[in-house]
Amino acid sequence: MIFRQLFDSESSTYSYLLASRRGGEALIIDPVLEKVERYLQLVKELDVRLVKAVDTHLHADHITGLGALRDRTRCITVMGERSRVDVVSMRLAEGDRLAVEGLSLDVLYTPGHTDDSYSFRMADRVFTGDTLLIRGTGRTDFQNGDPRAQYDSIFNKLLKLPEETLVFPAHDYKGETVSTIGEEKRFNPRLQVRSVDEYVGLMSSLHLPNPKMMDVAIPSNMRQGLAQDAIAQRGWAVAPTDAIAFVGKPDVALIDLRERAERERHGVIPGSLHAPYPDLQENLARGGMLNEFARSTGKRMLFYCAFGERSAMAVQAAHDAGLSTACHITGGLDAWKKANGPVER
Ligand SMILES: [Fe+2]
Repeated sequence: MIFRQLFDSESSTYSYLLASRRGGEALIIDPVLEKVERYLQLVKELDVRLVKAVDTHLHADHITGLGALRDRTRCITVMGERSRVDVVSMRLAEGDRLAVEGLSLDVLYTPGHTDDSYSFRMADRVFTGDTLLIRGTGRTDFQNGDPRAQYDSIFNKLLKLPEETLVFPAHDYKGETVSTIGEEKRFNPRLQVRSVDEYVGLMSSLHLPNPKMMDVAIPSNMRQGLAQDAIAQRGWAVAPTDAIAFVGKPDVALIDLRERAERERHGVIPGSLHAPYPDLQENLARGGMLNEFARSTGKRMLFYCAFGERSAMAVQAAHDAGLSTACHITGGLDAWKKANGPVER
C-alpha cells in the first residue's frame, strides 16, 4: 500500500494520501487548499491517479482543498451525508464504504466535534478527523458540536476497535504523528472519565479561543462552487422535471455514473445504463464503451449521478471527447426524486 501523511504547518492539519499500488487509484483525506500543488506533484511522482478527495468534516481552521482538487483532477469530492457543503459529489453514511481500486474503508458516523464528523476505518488503522486526537479530542463548542455525542462516538465506536488499531487524526499541535486505540484508551487525559456527564463537564470548561481562520474558513468551505453552474451556462443541463420526459425515449440513453453501492441504496432511473465515474476517461476515449455506443447508436447521452456534480464533469469530458450532444440531469438523483421522477430498486 502507498500511504503518505502530509502536514500543513499553518493549521497543523494532517492530510493522508492512500493508494493500493503504483499506477492505481488514490484518495486523499482532509486536503488543505494551500498544499494542493504539493499533493498534485506527489500524485505524479508516485504515479497514482487521484479519484477521490474526502473531508472528515467541515473544517473551521483551514480552507479545504476539495474544490481545487476537483477542478484540477476532476476527482470525486466526498463527505458524510450530514454535510451541508455544496462541493460534495458523493455522500457517505455509517455502514457505507469509501473505496478506490484495491482499498476499502468503513465509514463511521462520529459526531460531537461537529454534527458532520465521520471517521474512516481500514483493517489496521482509523482516520479519526477531529473526533479523537492524540492525547486529546476535538473541541465541541461550535459548529453544532456536542460533547455528549462525542462521548458516544469515542467510547461506543472508536474505542471499541481493536487496541492495536493505528489512530491517524486530522490535527496535531505537538508534533505527534500516530497513536493506537489502546494507547489513547489508557493515556488520553480527556478519556479518563467515569461517565458521560463528567466528559460533558470537562469539555464545557475548556473555554478555547475561536480558531484564527474561522470567519474565513467556514463560509469558504461551505461554498466551494459547483461544477454544475458552468455546465448549465453552456446549455448542457436538463432540469429533472424536463428529464422525466426522456425516460423510455429511443433516441436518449440515460447513463448512471454512481457506484454500485449507491445504486443499491438509492435506486436507479428505469432503463439507465451503468458506467461508473472513475472509468469515465477510458469509456469516453476512442474505442471506449461510451464513445462507441454514442457514435454507433447516435443516441444522446444524458448523464446522472447522486447530486449532479460528477455528471457535470462527465458532460464536460464528453464534449471534450467530441460527443457534442451529451448533457446531464441537474441536481442528480436527489433532485430527480424531489421532482417525483420514477425510481427502480
Ligand atoms: Fe475540525
